[in-house]
Amino acid sequence: MTNLYNKVWPGNWKNFCENNMEGYHHMGLHKNTLETYSPTRLTTNITWGENWIRYQVSYDMDLQVACYLVEQTNWQPGDMKQNVPALDIMMIHPANAFVIYPGGAGFYSIGPMGVDQVRYRAGSIRPKGGQLERRDPDGEAYDSMRALDEDGESMPHIAKGVRSRKAAAGKLTWMEEPILRWMQWISGKVLDGEAART
Ligand SMILES: [Fe+2]
Repeated sequence: MTNLYNKVWPGNWKNFCENNMEGYHHMGLHKNTLETYSPTRLTTNITWGENWIRYQVSYDMDLQVACYLVEQTNWQPGDMKQNVPALDIMMIHPANAFVIYPGGAGFYSIGPMGVDQVRYRAGSIRPKGGQLERRDPDGEAYDSMRALDEDGESMPHIAKGVRSRKAAAGKLTWMEEPILRWMQWISGKVLDGEAART
């Protein structure tokens, strides 16, 4: 197991759940890390249910950064049942996620520490080699923890957004629907079948 990550971030644990449930925040929050090889526009939602979501963000092999990452791993089609190189994320509600990607696999796990604090643990294993050399398009090196830090640093801003009176009601997108379904599920568990009051 490599790249053990264990930090407490300011923010509510449910915001971290939502973060793990979708790949569309790559284009903003991770524009200098994940977006440089697994861009938001290549996100595909594979399946979801009451207790899980699985989605993929394919690598864009037209990008040099993506090609470089895959070349380091000796990745072949069919490895880990992937036909194309991709981040393949399985979120198991409410607190665990597993991810496979060319050359490795990892986990995320969250634990509430309080209303405004959450512990985030992650780790990865790479059977075909050690640390992947990640570089942004300008050639600057970074490790996989940088993307995790980006998520953590966003938490206080997300909390502000959640409270925003400007948030408009509207139709949910196909990626947002599983989040609502999960919120309904956890509300039912916490409130013992009672309907949530707003
Ligand atoms: Fe993220």
